[in-house]
Amino acid sequence: MEGKYYKTKKSVEEYIRLAKDTSGEELIEKLKGVLPADSKLLEIGSGPGTDWKILNKSYNVKGSDNSTEFLNHLKSENPHGEFVELDAITMKTDETFDGIYSNKVLHHLTDNELIDAVKRQSEILNSHGIICHSFWKGEGSEIFKGLFVNYHTEVGLREVFRKYFEIRSIENYKEFEIDDSLLLIGKKKE
Ligand SMILES: C[S@@+](CC[C@H](N)C(=O)[O-])C[C@H]1O[C@@H](n2cnc3c(N)ncnc32)[C@H](O)[C@@H]1O
Repeated sequence: MEGKYYKTKKSVEEYIRLAKDTSGEELIEKLKGVLPADSKLLEIGSGPGTDWKILNKSYNVKGSDNSTEFLNHLKSENPHGEFVELDAITMKTDETFDGIYSNKVLHHLTDNELIDAVKRQSEILNSHGIICHSFWKGEGSEIFKGLFVNYHTEVGLREVFRKYFEIRSIENYKEFEIDDSLLLIGKKKE
């Protein structure tokens, strides 16, 4: 579901400022346990690029976002990086990947959009491809700063992903408060 917050220069600058002390370093450590170094990885919703920089140390990573403002920022900060405009729902690309990673991106999708996105992820993954995605934990949805935010439970995520992915783990972790987030790691079903 579309919102303007990530699309204007002013709000993107605000998000980058507010998120400057957070990173997905711990999540990426978990990814490194299942996806070999140098694999071809797609990051969805790279935003400020903090996780992209960490991923870039271990993987052949392509960053992406559906916001032109974030893409301009990513390209100017990382002139040697590879970034493409991609929407998490449609993911219009001819490329295939060994892994797909996102940190607090897919919660902006409605339940039906997430179902479409998960199917599309399985289509653009190579055999035995790995996914690693984080979500806000909870029930229901709300509009925050004009953006749609969908909360997820472990049971709900299993229901959505199990058709296309063997779920390796769904773990609680703390972003701001204890167990406010979930990290799902899965492997493409063959
Ligand atoms: C909460 S930020 C997270 C950014 C980054 N992953 C991080 O951890 O700081 C959400 C990001 O997802 C992007 N985004 C939101 N909806 C998207 C969609 N449908 N397709 C691709 N990117 C999307 C936004 O533009 C923004 O960069």
